[in-house]
Amino acid sequence: MFHDTPEAIVERMRVLENLNATDRQDGTATFERLRQVPPATGRFLAIVAASAPEGAFIEIGTSGGYSGLWLSLACRATGRTLTTFEMSPAKIEIATATFEAGGVDDIVTIVPGDAREHLADHDAIAFCFLDAEKDAYQECYDLVVPRMVGGGLLVADNVISHEDVLKDMVDRAIADERIDALVVPIGSGLLLGRKI
Ligand SMILES: C[S@@+](CC[C@H](N)C(=O)[O-])C[C@H]1O[C@@H](n2cnc3c(N)ncnc32)[C@H](O)[C@@H]1O
Repeated sequence: MFHDTPEAIVERMRVLENLNATDRQDGTATFERLRQVPPATGRFLAIVAASAPEGAFIEIGTSGGYSGLWLSLACRATGRTLTTFEMSPAKIEIATATFEAGGVDDIVTIVPGDAREHLADHDAIAFCFLDAEKDAYQECYDLVVPRMVGGGLLVADNVISHEDVLKDMVDRAIADERIDALVVPIGSGLLLGRKI
């Protein structure tokens, strides 16, 4: 949490942290689980997003809205809004409740469906958090990077925990002359890129 985090957000984060922990232990099927980022990653995301240049904030993979709550803190600090994409109706229901409970439903918009069908409608992206199914990462990356503003920031989760499946995508990002990128060993491993 940050020093000035509203109590409603703190409370909803606690609810989701408990739900996420239970999910992992009670045999809930993988795709039904929240699979949300750990608090340290949330904190990192909020600090990075708050440092982004002028432009739009997007998130690919809302789940129950936990990382979205962290990003809403960056939105509050910088006067932005967040557009977050989610294809699971069950997760959209939880995330809708999250953003209402946190009092940030006026600054967070959930776009239902596969993000890959919507990303071409978004331009001037200043910050993107990519946290979807791994087989969609490369396609999302290819859609997002050309739509980012100079100095725009991209964070992709799970690049260490899912190193095998994401290796090609990470290697291509690090070699990509449009961005400067590195892997940051926080949580499940984050690719952090800055558009040149
Ligand atoms: C790892 S979870 C996201 C966790 C969330 N970022 C958090 O930390 O609270 C991945 C989510 O992305 C959604 N998803 C996966 N592929 C997607 C796609 N192509 N478009 C939109 N949502 C997608 C899944 O339904 C799932 O809820």
